[in-house]
Amino acid sequence: MRMPRSSSVRTVVLLAGVLLLATSCGWSLWDNPMTTVRPQSDFGRAIDGLFMLISWTTLVIFIAVEAALLFVCWRFRDRPGAPIPKQIHGHTALELSWTVAFAVVLLIIGIPTIKIIFKTQEAPAATALRVEVAGKQWWWEFKYPGLNIATANELHLPVGQAVAFHLNAPDVIHSFWIPRLGGKRDVVPHRVNQLVLTPEAVGEYPGQCAEYCGMSHANMRFRVIVHPKDEFDRWVKSQQAPPVESADPLAQQGKTLFTQSACVGCHTITGISGGQVGPNLTHFGSRASLAANMMANTPDNVARWVENPEHMKPGARMPNLGMKGEQSKALAAYLLSLK
Ligand code: CUA
Repeated sequence: MRMPRSSSVRTVVLLAGVLLLATSCGWSLWDNPMTTVRPQSDFGRAIDGLFMLISWTTLVIFIAVEAALLFVCWRFRDRPGAPIPKQIHGHTALELSWTVAFAVVLLIIGIPTIKIIFKTQEAPAATALRVEVAGKQWWWEFKYPGLNIATANELHLPVGQAVAFHLNAPDVIHSFWIPRLGGKRDVVPHRVNQLVLTPEAVGEYPGQCAEYCGMSHANMRFRVIVHPKDEFDRWVKSQQAPPVESADPLAQQGKTLFTQSACVGCHTITGISGGQVGPNLTHFGSRASLAANMMANTPDNVARWVENPEHMKPGARMPNLGMKGEQSKALAAYLLSLK
């Protein structure tokens, strides 16, 4: 029976659509900054190697099984007068062979998986750079105890040096994930989890909380900047130095506002305030993004953030302090002057 013309056109359009979708998915998998298939660390490569091994193994099995299925359907199809094919129920050799084949497949997948589980849980070397990560609703705190640096939402690392992340959450469960470098690893209250990796290429990589943790879970992002060693050392020096503030009158007006308002209760600025609730703002002006990598760190965005944090980021813990117009502009000028 011939297919009606409209139906065959529909089939062709559908197939073309599926093909387009499949290829565009494949392309974005490669191109996407959040991709896991182009790892840039030893940890990422280990997981990617395992993923590729399992993918290729299962692809070969899939093709073999489908080919056998098609062959059997064709070879033993019903024909007028054909006898019932020979039955194989209880065939000892066949039963044994496919039991052994499955055991071998499990070993091919299981042995490297267990090896990599142990490898990625190894204790860090003494030379590893220690970074204490705190996942908070909804931002990331990064402390470098050996370097006496505290920052937020921007993680700076030197290329080629092992980093030992110590992960903890003071509120709810989060998950630390830098798709191109490693993770995900849960960040859990009352417990310190570890993650050790060595970034292998200079560049910028986005990170994201990967465990649902409340209203702004999707807005709990961060940036990872992997520097050449000398550039990282310069960053360390700049972060260790006291903040450089501007003599600009608007910025000075902002400083007065900051010191006389509730800001000081939640934020630390070295030499000015010691609040521990919100992000450390000592070098706020040196960061490229604001509110856990939601927006660019520009005067307009900072002023809008100060005026109404909840509007910019649903559920934001920072209260609305009633700063308006000139006040929020002055605060933005002061905070952005802190390089
Ligand atoms: Cu933190 Cu999701």
